[in-house]
This record gives sequence, structure tokens and C-alpha cells, in this order.
Amino acid sequence: PLSSYAALLLGYALGSIPFGLILTRVAGTQDIRTIGSGNIGATNVLRTGRKGLAAATLVGDMLKGTVAVLLAGWLIGENGLLPAALGAFLGHIFPVWLGFKGGKGVATFLGVTLALAWQAALVFAAAWLTVAFVTRYSSLAALVASVLTTLAAFALVPPPTGLLLAILTALLWFMHRANIGRLLAGTEGKIGKKG
Ligand code: G3P
Repeated sequence: PLSSYAALLLGYALGSIPFGLILTRVAGTQDIRTIGSGNIGATNVLRTGRKGLAAATLVGDMLKGTVAVLLAGWLIGENGLLPAALGAFLGHIFPVWLGFKGGKGVATFLGVTLALAWQAALVFAAAWLTVAFVTRYSSLAALVASVLTTLAAFALVPPPTGLLLAILTALLWFMHRANIGRLLAGTEGKIGKKG
């Protein structure tokens, strides 16, 4: 129905706000796309050495997903929730404003999960922090956390949310294909290390 498309568009509009790019630009750092992995996400913003900017990027990229889902639920109703989540995730990864070259979706995945199934978001946080603490690889932490979060959603809430998160997880893994190659080659950058 029309309202699902409206929710998808609303999500896309919010999701396509590139907080990492905007915040680093306002702060006057070197173009984030020329640093480290070239990604516009919080992990790469941390490679500028600006921890506050990285934290703000994480919060912004996460909350735009949460807000998109909550706003769609409020304006459109229950039918708007999953399309808004999908829209926000796609907006972050494929923002029209940046020639469809956005981020890898980790923070926004967490943000939409928080609004759809907060219990699963706790699983994401616990899994991400554990893997990141042990291995120091942000990408590996996200790859593991996204799968466990999807399984948790299937176990905890009605199936449509798990199905949506499975699609987002597949896309998240695809966006990390270069990271996966580096992980397998042993050349992936560790958290906070520059370059
Ligand atoms: O948020 C993406 C993260 O999982 C990896 O980031 O910059 O190391 O490719 P990056």
C-alpha cells in the first residue's frame, strides 16, 4: 500500500543523512573518504584521532534509524515500521546525495533494531563489544553481531522483524566484502589505529 512506500521514503530521507561526513566537514578534518578505509562511518572517523567526532557519528547514524522507525510508527502505524527500517538502512548505504556511495550500515542496523526489537539490540551491543574487545576488529564485530542479532530477533519477536534483519545482515556482509578479504588476509586495520 501507499503508506508502506511513504514509510520507505521517510526512512530513506533520514537514513541518507551522512553524519560522519557532515561532522568531520564541520570540524574541518581532512576529507574522511581519503582516510583509512575511506568509509564515512564511526570506525573510520575514529582513525582521524577525534574520539568525540567518532562517538557523535555513531550516535547520529544510529539514532536516524531509530527515529525513522518510531516516526513511521507514529505517522503511519504498524505497517510503516519495517519499510521505514529498510529505507533508513538503504539510505545510509546508498545516499543519493553522495552518488549512492554511503556507509556500511552497522550503526544504522543497530538503530533500527533498537526501535523494532530492543532486546535484540542488546544482543547486538553485547556481541559487538565482546568481539571488538577481544579482536580489536570493528568489521568482524559487526559481522558477528549482525548474525547473532538476527537469530535473536527470530527467537524473541514475530518473524517479519527477523526476516527484515536477515536481509539487512546480508547487505551488511556484502558491504563489508573488502573488510572480509582483509580479515582473511590478516591485513584488516584494528580499532583506533590510523592509516
Ligand atoms: O562500520 C563499518 C565497520 O564495520 C568497518 O569500518 O572503516 O574499518 O571499513 P572500516
